Amino acid sequence: MPKHETPLLDELEKGPWPSFVTDLKRQAETKPECWDILGQLELSFKDRITHWKHGGIVGVFGYGGGIVGRYSDSPKEFPGVAHFHTVRLNQPSSKFYGTKKLREICDLWEKYGSGMTNMHGSTGDLVLLGTTTPNLEPLFYDLTHDLNMDLGGSGSNLRTPACCLGKARCEWSCIDTQALCHHLTMHYQDEIHRPAFPYKFKFKMSGCPNDCVAAIARSDFAVIGTWRDDIRMDQDAVKGYINGDFPANGGSHAGRDWGKFNIKKEVLDLCPTNCMWMEGDELKIDNSECTRCMHCINVMPRALRPGADQGATICVGAKAPILDGAQFATMTIPFLKIDPETEFEAVIEVIEKIWDWWMEVGKNRERVGETIMRVGLPTFLKVMEVDIIPQHVREPRSNPYVFWQDEEVPGGFERDVIEFRKKHAQ
Ligand code: HEM
Ligand code: SF4
Ligand code: SF4
Repeated sequence: MPKHETPLLDELEKGPWPSFVTDLKRQAETKPECWDILGQLELSFKDRITHWKHGGIVGVFGYGGGIVGRYSDSPKEFPGVAHFHTVRLNQPSSKFYGTKKLREICDLWEKYGSGMTNMHGSTGDLVLLGTTTPNLEPLFYDLTHDLNMDLGGSGSNLRTPACCLGKARCEWSCIDTQALCHHLTMHYQDEIHRPAFPYKFKFKMSGCPNDCVAAIARSDFAVIGTWRDDIRMDQDAVKGYINGDFPANGGSHAGRDWGKFNIKKEVLDLCPTNCMWMEGDELKIDNSECTRCMHCINVMPRALRPGADQGATICVGAKAPILDGAQFATMTIPFLKIDPETEFEAVIEVIEKIWDWWMEVGKNRERVGETIMRVGLPTFLKVMEVDIIPQHVREPRSNPYVFWQDEEVPGGFERDVIEFRKKHAQ
């Protein structure tokens, strides 16, 4: 496959950021189909339109998803990308790798694919970009037999779960996000590989409300670590911050002179619930008013830690705008113990309550967040068998269009107009 002229893409080799064009050119030296991906992309830059055909349905036997088929609309001009299917590999939780495994993956992909990857897809998968249909089964065979790895999810199913790095490298993690992510991935292999849902469904888990995997925004089922006792405090370390022994926020703002650390200005006055104060040089927190926003802990990581009675909040229904508007996940279960000892039984119970309902009630291509909007939060919470509490809403409704059940109204809904006419003129 010959090189193509790429004057527009060549511009993107300038500047300090690692250039994907430079990388692709280097890859093309051993994988000539990469010249065609550059050529087709250049054409798209020129025409300002994509040159991939609509859709593409390919895969491996036994599975209903995992591979995104794609064909060039200019295969004569760019034969190297006539087929350019994307393979999703299920990544290890939090994406820790050894070089041996990465080398195995690269060798596999050099053999069967373009050599191009995406490390990683937004959902979490390790994405292998560009191969042909006949290569899919042999690739899958080697992947499973030699690398002991599996495909990720695609389609109307459970997609590949992902988590923050949790207890592996973070002092704030209130749950073992990796253990939970791995366990649920293994437990729900069937739901990942064989679409059985009205639409896609995603799990994400973060160890604390900083939510480094953005579970609240990017997953239908978000598990977000928290605690319900008191913030653990080290008063000596608080003094250390006040004296300037430790940099605020772990030194995150060191690039600019923000003046000497001022605990009142930077912590107390910024606490969203105003539940902190100083008594002399002792920091005090009224934990009953703390919403666990993480701000004070983020500013003084050496002095403050999440409490010891840890668990997670379950939020449901986040989605992107299509069809009826973007949604963040809505708080469903304020606190749930996340227990690896029981193989996360409690979490699984919650998931299955949602699925049992949504798989029946959800319309075709309706995300669970939209189903909740359509049938209403009260109905959803009833399905979830949780007590409805003030924490379920940010504010009570302002319109008076309130539904009542028949049995909640004295006399019910059956009325006789003749009876009414006896007291009121026609
Ligand atoms: C002081 C007098 C009135 C007040 C304060 C009043 C107020 C309202 C309000 C607040 C609504 C609801 C608007 C909404 O849906 O957001 C409404 C709807 C309506 N009003 Fe009135 N109204 C008055 C007089 C009248 C009169 C005299 C008529 C007819 C002759 C009338 C006919 C209607 C109708 C047909 C609706 C629409 C009902 C629906 O959407 O189902 N209103 N009114
Ligand atoms: S979400 Fe919280 S626990 Fe997880 S890595 Fe981020 S700060 Fe740490
Ligand atoms: S976690 Fe947030 S709400 Fe709680 S005390 Fe700290 S700043 Fe205030």
